[in-house]
Amino acid sequence: MRVLIGNSASQVAKIAAENVLAGLTAHGSGNTPVLGLATGSSPLGLYRELAQAVREGKADFSAARGFALDEYIGIRATHPQSYRQTLISEVCNVIGLPEHFLFTPQGLGETIEEIEAAAANYDQAIAAAGGIQVQILGIGANGHLGFNEPGSALRSRTRIKRLAAKTRQDNARFFEGLERVPTHCVTQGLGTILEAGRLVLVATGAGKAEAIAAAVEGPLSASCPGSVLQLHPDAVVVLDEAAATGLKLRDYYDDAAAGLSNMQLHLD
Ligand code: F6R
Repeated sequence: MRVLIGNSASQVAKIAAENVLAGLTAHGSGNTPVLGLATGSSPLGLYRELAQAVREGKADFSAARGFALDEYIGIRATHPQSYRQTLISEVCNVIGLPEHFLFTPQGLGETIEEIEAAAANYDQAIAAAGGIQVQILGIGANGHLGFNEPGSALRSRTRIKRLAAKTRQDNARFFEGLERVPTHCVTQGLGTILEAGRLVLVATGAGKAEAIAAAVEGPLSASCPGSVLQLHPDAVVVLDEAAATGLKLRDYYDDAAAGLSNMQLHLD
């Protein structure tokens, strides 16, 4: 795992975007980038940096595929708070990813079985697209990844999950009262997320420090779903100073941030 710490919001966004673009080069094949997309405030700066790369001719998402991490159950895909609509306005319209290439889990159905079957099909659709090359992630203050709340199976697949009470409270500001917040969602599983070529997780602010310390340096545990990053061979965690305050190995991360560029190949 690489832990990269920026000293401002704009530096965090830039570092994250560089790592997304490099990940698409490293794990992509052909001209069709396949991105996994997170909603939430953490990756907004990163999406703006990707848009800047498009303007500068360094990236092109016009033929890309985007797979959302998660979607609420019980609200229409056209509902303004659906993650589909959120991703259309915060990602598609920003980086130029066509709406018809944005895939989101199906959160509406006549029966639970129908939603379960659609969730299984979502994993198949990711596989049919050749797999997610770079998965963009945020992390909840409780350590959740996607909507894999604490207690989620570490090898889980895309499926229905109950939202934690804290997550519903955190998201109530987007709805007209807590009772209007969906109780369930469909989320990529932790096992699904781990299949992406590279994971790029962005976290900022002191409210994320505890979750980051547990995810990066704590034991691998369903109690902190973010700790599955430790299993991934190409995980990049991009933090601001506040989110990094709980890390014990900070000096090592700073030394290692230069990557292989300052390696001394011949010492005698
Ligand atoms: C988003 C998602 C969540 C968020 C997490 C952090 O699709 O699944 O895991 O990434 O709740 O949210 P923010 O970035 O708003 O703090």
